[in-house]
Amino acid sequence: NSDDVDQVNYKTLSRFVMANTADQELTILMGAIALACKATARACRKAGIANLFGLAGEQNTSGDDQKKLDVLSNDIFVNALLNCHACAVLVSEENEDPIIVPPSMQGKYCVAFDPLDGSSNIDCNVSTGTIFGVYEKTIPGPGTVDDILRKGKDLVVAGYCMYGAATELVICFQGRGVHRFALDPSIGEFIHTHANVKFPADGGKKIYSANEGNSGLWDEPCQRAVAHFKSGDKPYALRYVGSMVSDVHRTLLYGGVFIYPADKKSPGGKLRVLYEGFPMAMIVEAAGGVASTGLFNGKIHRMMDLEPKGVHERCPVILGSERDVNLVLGFYDTAA
Ligand code: AHG
Ligand code: MN
Ligand code: MN
Ligand code: MN
Repeated sequence: NSDDVDQVNYKTLSRFVMANTADQELTILMGAIALACKATARACRKAGIANLFGLAGEQNTSGDDQKKLDVLSNDIFVNALLNCHACAVLVSEENEDPIIVPPSMQGKYCVAFDPLDGSSNIDCNVSTGTIFGVYEKTIPGPGTVDDILRKGKDLVVAGYCMYGAATELVICFQGRGVHRFALDPSIGEFIHTHANVKFPADGGKKIYSANEGNSGLWDEPCQRAVAHFKSGDKPYALRYVGSMVSDVHRTLLYGGVFIYPADKKSPGGKLRVLYEGFPMAMIVEAAGGVASTGLFNGKIHRMMDLEPKGVHERCPVILGSERDVNLVLGFYDTAA
């Protein structure tokens, strides 16, 4: 029966990667990313036992208080990516400057990553994740920041790993759809469980996801959009985990909209373009959804069109099913 097939014919991540690229360096890179995700999943699982809760005592460039697991997961990713000989430039939420891989270990990929997303949720055992985006270096010679300060649409791979009840990896190779993998801890492999994931055709469940604690600081169109979600006798449900990976994963699978708007205290919003906005936008678009910045620097931008000038630059985020993102954007049109 089907179980037997699954016990002798493992649809692993590396098998999927080899079937979807002829580039050995990309195959090696994805192996390094998978290793780092597995090691980070293990660190999250043992955090309570290994005294890995709490703060590391430093702040990162974004001004976040680094948690011990922010630093540990960052070390895991930096070591895995430096030593796989497939990378030229690394950008991490937890490193102020890009890491330039020494020429002796340099490869052709540039990886921007958020090693632990939603890290404020670690100490209370609420799901967290990792987010990553991969560019292919186009400028010959040693890596520079210009190899990674690129538009979202230049990404060749986007992905996230969610450390939840299951450890789930979601990956999109440019132009090849969105694929889900679940970690089978008994063999330490990510198994391909769902191919070509798409948003529900009708926009899916009526769910909106936002930190409404900030709503008094949002711009007026955003306030009216959320008021609309709450109106009538069949209002939208509010679901907000506070880890982007978890909120985006639920939005991708169930439908609805996730918004992290700009507000009076942070005009660019909170989420960082290179390692939060872009990878999620690529995945959302490949699944048939929409990823917008909403009104940002006087215009409404498709997220993937942004060209960041700094590796920790932020942007507002409105992403999800076409039905619901367009509903929010409609309040900007009438305001304009
Ligand atoms: P990180 O933990 O990598 O710094 O990211 C946290 C982000 C994102 O995961 C989440 O959507 C957002 O912060 C939540 O922000 P609020 O706590 O302001 O709602
Ligand atoms: Mn952070
Ligand atoms: Mn994050
Ligand atoms: Mn983070």
